Amino acid sequence: MQDAPSDRDALQALLDFHVEAGVDLALDETPHNRFAEPKAERAPAKAAAPASATASAPPPRALPKAAAAAPEEVASMAREQARHAQSLEELEAILAGFDGCALKFSAKNLAFADGNPEGRVMLVGEAPGADEDRIGKPFMGRSGQLLDRMLATIGLDRSQVYVANIVPWRPPGNRTPTPQEIAICKPFIARQIELASPEFVLCLGGPAAQNLLGLKDGILRTRGRWFTYKTEDGREIRALPTLHPAYLLRQPLQKRLGWRDFQALRRALDGRE
Ligand code: URA
Repeated sequence: MQDAPSDRDALQALLDFHVEAGVDLALDETPHNRFAEPKAERAPAKAAAPASATASAPPPRALPKAAAAAPEEVASMAREQARHAQSLEELEAILAGFDGCALKFSAKNLAFADGNPEGRVMLVGEAPGADEDRIGKPFMGRSGQLLDRMLATIGLDRSQVYVANIVPWRPPGNRTPTPQEIAICKPFIARQIELASPEFVLCLGGPAAQNLLGLKDGILRTRGRWFTYKTEDGREIRALPTLHPAYLLRQPLQKRLGWRDFQALRRALDGRE
């Protein structure tokens, strides 16, 4: 591995290069060339490496035991803990203390919710990005600004809707959360919906629609159609998948489809659909 340059401008340029390439998070104090490591060390460390192998290098940052447990075991712990929450405040506190999802340890903040939990509509996105991670609330960046403009077209703002994500911690580099991370976090968003008990759930993007509604089809096939979201306590909530605002920022011509979905939500709120 090359030595880092010592002058300030070269260091800044190196940092900018990494950020532009999507490397915006340091997971450890020292760099590791994983390709140069023997296979056994690269595999997720179940059994600790022998002391002699690690004596010269600082040990990688250890995850708490819960985050390293088998995904099914962690998901069942998550279900158990989420079920105990009797209010949204309790749920947020439980989630903040939950160590089962490794994303917690690379994120700066838990982005639990924004808006009004008493609102008739709950919007659920995928996972926080850099702005949300910094601020600790969902939909704070460019996607959030577009979302606010779309809500405004149907006479709503954040004081009237409740906003959350299926995964409440930022995946490093804004990657898509893995199926395991989603499975671990799902009991919490399910309980959050149950406790907020909105009349309508708007699923923002494919991952939210597929994971909350059990849909197999992609978002372009399911958007704009009403489905039923069933809570664990047996309530049925009308749910509408729509395109994610981040997708609409990349594909502005599709905004007309998003606009149609928001009009459908308006009609439903007015009892006309
Ligand atoms: N995208 C999401 O899905 N959620 C956020 O909070 C921000 C961007």
